[in-house]
Amino acid sequence: MNMKSLLSAALLLTFSASSVMAAPIVIKFSHVVAVNTPKGQAAEYFKKLAEERTKGAVKVEVYPNSQLYKDKEEMEALQMGSVQMLAPSLAKFGPLGLKEFEVFDLPFIFDDRAELHKVTQGPVGAKLLKKLETKGLMGLAYWDNGFKVMSANKPLKTVDDFKGQKMRIQSSKVLDAQMRSVGAIPQVMAFSEVYQALQTGVVDGTENPPSNLYTQKMHEVQKYVTISRHGYLGYAVLVNKKFWMGLPADIRAALESSMKDTTKFANDIAQKDNDDALAEVKKSGKSQIITLTPQERAAWKRAMDKAHKDNMGRIGADIVNEVYKVTGYKP
Ligand code: LMR
Repeated sequence: MNMKSLLSAALLLTFSASSVMAAPIVIKFSHVVAVNTPKGQAAEYFKKLAEERTKGAVKVEVYPNSQLYKDKEEMEALQMGSVQMLAPSLAKFGPLGLKEFEVFDLPFIFDDRAELHKVTQGPVGAKLLKKLETKGLMGLAYWDNGFKVMSANKPLKTVDDFKGQKMRIQSSKVLDAQMRSVGAIPQVMAFSEVYQALQTGVVDGTENPPSNLYTQKMHEVQKYVTISRHGYLGYAVLVNKKFWMGLPADIRAALESSMKDTTKFANDIAQKDNDDALAEVKKSGKSQIITLTPQERAAWKRAMDKAHKDNMGRIGADIVNEVYKVTGYKP
């Protein structure tokens, strides 16, 4: 090799080394909801903090609205390393073999966010996140969404009103039992398919916090929305463990601090987002809002208590009892 080609080889090496050093670590963050929801906004906020605090060494690409993957596929993609971060609803961990997370789906188990936070921010919450490691995943945080409303094309006020109604649910056996306990017919379906299924009558109704109902325009294809607050829907932020533990320590620390601050942001905006969404649904006049009397709500609770009894074994009596102790749930 003459001097000239030696020099250009050296130059090429220098360039490729610097371009390797400059290439950011990419975190693909896939989710299924709209950007203007608590989870959608939190994902964007995390991107901002993570990119700032790592000074561009990390690039977070957020893919909302099931753009990249639907519910089931996103879990597989995370395990395979095709995406690095997700925040699935806590009602979607059963198919992974982590049935304990379905404790969050038990109807009427939380009266309010304060009770919920005692669980997510306490030892039970930490114990549940630890279980993710058996699946090659890690749980970084819990993000709030909110308490669910029930919607249909007929008014759902009494337990009898549910009879024969086909209701879309997430992939949780507890939600399946909840719907059956009131005589409805549950149907598991990916979130991205719900609007069309409601529109075409494949299902009659569904449940979700107002933020999801409104941003997916479900209220435009549902005649009635019952403010029941019968159950809670929230998220766990997941990463692929191998990816996360393989990050340089300073980068991981910057991402952990970004996640901590994002979690505060997410949980601070969730209630207002849901209040605003419900106000918009009311304002639209597309569906009639039903408010339950305390007696009607108590009748739902009595009927749905069956979902607790039927799932003690599935979730694990120890976990359920620990949560009862924290929330004071009484059948
Ligand atoms: C649903 O599938 O109904 C929701 O859990 C979607 C979400 O992630 O909020």
